[in-house]
Order: sequence, then structure tokens, then C-alpha cells
Amino acid sequence: MKIAIFGTGYVGLVTGACLAQVGHNVCCVDVDKDKVASLRAGVIPIYEPGLKDVVEHAVAEGRLSFTTDAREAVDHGEVIFIAVGTPPDEDGSADLRYVLAVGKTVAEHMQDYRLVVTKSTVPVGTADKVKSAMTEVLEARAATIAFDVASNPEFLKEGAAVSDFMKPDRIVVGTDSPRVEKLMRELYAPFNRNHDKLIFTDVRSSELTKYAANALLATKISFMNELANIAEKVGADIEQVRQGIGSDPRIGYHFIYPGCGYGGSCFPKDVKALVKTAEDLSYAPQLLSAVDAVNDRQKERLFQKLRIRFGDDLTGKTIALWGLAFKPNTDDMREAPSRTLMEALWAAGAKVRAFDPEALHEAERLYGDRDDLQLCSSAFEVLDGADALVICTEWQQFRSPDFAEIKQRLTHAVIVDGRNLYDPALMAEKGIEYFSIGRGR
Ligand SMILES: NC(=O)c1ccc[n+]([C@@H]2O[C@H](COP(=O)([O-])OP(=O)(O)OC[C@H]3O[C@@H](n4cnc5c(N)ncnc54)[C@H](O)[C@@H]3O)[C@@H](O)[C@H]2O)c1
Repeated sequence: MKIAIFGTGYVGLVTGACLAQVGHNVCCVDVDKDKVASLRAGVIPIYEPGLKDVVEHAVAEGRLSFTTDAREAVDHGEVIFIAVGTPPDEDGSADLRYVLAVGKTVAEHMQDYRLVVTKSTVPVGTADKVKSAMTEVLEARAATIAFDVASNPEFLKEGAAVSDFMKPDRIVVGTDSPRVEKLMRELYAPFNRNHDKLIFTDVRSSELTKYAANALLATKISFMNELANIAEKVGADIEQVRQGIGSDPRIGYHFIYPGCGYGGSCFPKDVKALVKTAEDLSYAPQLLSAVDAVNDRQKERLFQKLRIRFGDDLTGKTIALWGLAFKPNTDDMREAPSRTLMEALWAAGAKVRAFDPEALHEAERLYGDRDDLQLCSSAFEVLDGADALVICTEWQQFRSPDFAEIKQRLTHAVIVDGRNLYDPALMAEKGIEYFSIGRGR
């Protein structure tokens, strides 16, 4: 099938590349000229395991192209995905300006039937808004052209996006139209061979399903962080509690790791947007508001632990940081706990030396002009002369480091661990002061 994708970010690029990989002919369009130029030159602007190979292969086979020309993309794709950003507005609601702009662009250029599919995470009612925006443009053109707008939220995880897309748990499509159902079945047939993963719902239920999934996952994390803070107060070890509850099949082990808060481009903004949707309809979403508030508080925990150890005035102190990305296997630093920590440290007068296996270039882009941040290209280099090591992201390479070398390089043998990677008893044995989440000191 001929497909167009608007937006070549984490979702759009992965979607385009994977659809091309299974044989569709995909044209990806983005307003960011530099991004398109680099994709055309074979440079993938983001770090996502396996993505480079899939893109290179599909481009070489002639099934994947990149453009800044919206008309070319609209001409090309009978099915057009909207995969542009939906960043939070000042009041927490999702900013729909990019999504609606794409709807209007499609309506300006389309000459015959088009199926527009919202893959961006959008509040309930957005498909109707896209439809209205398109109808307005078509009326202004005095054009009578049939089109449909469907919802197809994306559930991929950054860091495993390609495999998630290629082997989805489920593919949710919101539509009331048999024509759309037929097109979407054809489009997703290559991903649907083992058993039927397609779930057709009405449009609004599909839009809400995405928020429900992210809000539930965020709730599990905030729940465990709340419990971790209580565990510290009562002298229990949250890691033992985690094992104790995870073994219950009704609860399970997934997504119950305590830590320094959730970040990324989805959970924080999606929980806030869902809260706003509910409030706009005069419903007070108490649980969701608490999930968000608990997370904001949790992101401050690492800084609080440093203050407990070193006092309020951190002037002259240097803190070493392992992990800048909001989670492992990505270079994405949107809403990352590392950012909350670094900003608090700078405000308290401290300097930061930081390492991340993939996000250094992103940190350079965000904070490159600061002289109180030194980005280092090796994990051990950041330790030299630092007063403490803080772990923000659980990259695999941090799981079993040479503790003797850490101790030797740090000025004080202090580790503040936001991901509970180490055994407190082992740290005590090695003579390291160890602060973790919900256990230890
Ligand atoms: N990142 C994730 O893990 C993830 C997972 C599921 C869903 N989502 C949702 O998918 C959407 C996209 O997220 P992302 O992380 O890929 O965003 P992103 O910021 O990485 O990419 C968005 C891209 O859209 C482009 N763009 C903006 N306006 C455009 C226009 N008019 N025409 C063409 N391109 C345009 C931007 O230049 C940018 O390259 C969001 O709604 C997000 O909530 C993200």
C-alpha cells in the first residue's frame, strides 16, 4: 500500500521504516529540513536499537523516502498517518496545533479519497476536530472529496520501538467505517499473522485507550515510589516488598520498580493531559492528580538525599552523574529525572560531571552553554574529583561496576542510587556510603 507519514520523530520514523520493511511504500514528511536532510544522507537523528538497519534496508529497496514537501506526501499516500508531537500546553492540556495543521495540509492538497489516521497521542475528540478542520479547508476549496479520520494510537516503547512495532501486543483502531476497517486490516496484515491483534473500537474509546494505558503504567510507578518512601520511614526494604507482591499473578513483576520518578515524552504529559480533560468536564480525577504529584515529588528525592549527606549549601561540591536519558536504550532526555536533579544541583551551587552512553549529544544540545556541567565520554572519567556518584538511569553497563575504582576516584565514597542497582550489604562491605530508594540508609 502507499502510505504517507507526517512527522519523522520517534514514532513517525519507526512507523514509516517498519511499514516499509514489510513491503508497503512509505513517504515520510517533516517540516524540519535538517532532519529530512540528515535522513536522506543516511544519518538517523535518534538512537533507537535496530532502527538504522531497518531504515537503510527499506531505503535501499526503494520503499522508504523522506521529503519536506507535504503535497508530495499527500499525493503519495492513500493512508496518511499523523505522527507529529502533542506537547503539553501551559495548562497541561495537549497542544493540538501540529496535529490540526497536518489535517489542514492534507485537505489543501488531496485530490481524491484519503484516510487520515491519528497516531499521535491525542485527547478524546481530536479525530472530530481533525475532521472539522479538514472539512473547512475542503469547503473553502469548494471541493467535494471523501475522506475518513481514524484513530490508531501507538504503544511502542522507546528503547524497544522497532521490536514493539514489528511484534505488537495489540493494534487498536478507532473507527465506525467498514471502508476504514478494510484498509487498516490490509495495512496491518503483515503484523497480524500469528493471531488477530487488531482491536476495532469506536474513535473516542480508541483515543482514551492510549491515555488509559499510560496512566495505569504511571500509576504503578507512583504507587511503588509512594510505598518506597513509606518503607524508608518504617525501616523496611522496598526491594523485598517488590518481590513479595510481584509474585502474586494478579500484580506481577512488571512496572513495579521504585526509582527516581518517571520521565520521557509520554507519561508526564499524558497523565497531565488526562487530568485536564477530566477537569474540563467538571470531574476531579483525584487518583491521576496524585500520580502526577507523587512523581514530581519523587524526582526531587535524589537531590534531597544529597542534601541530607552534604548539607543545604552545595557550593564548591561536584556531583558525578551516571545516566542522562529518561530510561536506558534511548537518547531521549525529555522530562528525565536527571534534568530535575541537575537543575536543583546548579541552583544549590554545585557542579555536575555527567556520562551517558547515548544521550551526551542531547545533553550538549540542551545544556551545552553551561560552565557548571562537564560531559564526559567515559563512566569512570566523571568520577575524578567528584564528591559523590548519583545514578539516574539503569543502563546495563552500570549494573556491576568496579567498586574499588569508583571508591578510589571519588573524593568521598558516596553513591546515591536512583535505580536500586546495588545490594546495600555489599556496599557496606566495600566501605561505600550508599543511599538508595526505599531501603538502605
Ligand atoms: N515517543 C514515544 O515513545 C511515543 C510513544 C507513543 C506515542 N507517542 C506520541 O506520538 C507523537 C509523536 O511523538 P514523538 O516522540 O515521535 O515526537 P517527536 O517530537 O520526536 O517528533 C515529532 C516530529 O513531527 C514533526 N512535525 C511537526 N509538525 C509537523 C508538520 N506539520 N508536518 C510534518 N512534520 C511535523 C517535528 O518536526 C518532529 O520531527 C506524540 O503525540 C507522542 O505523545 C510517542
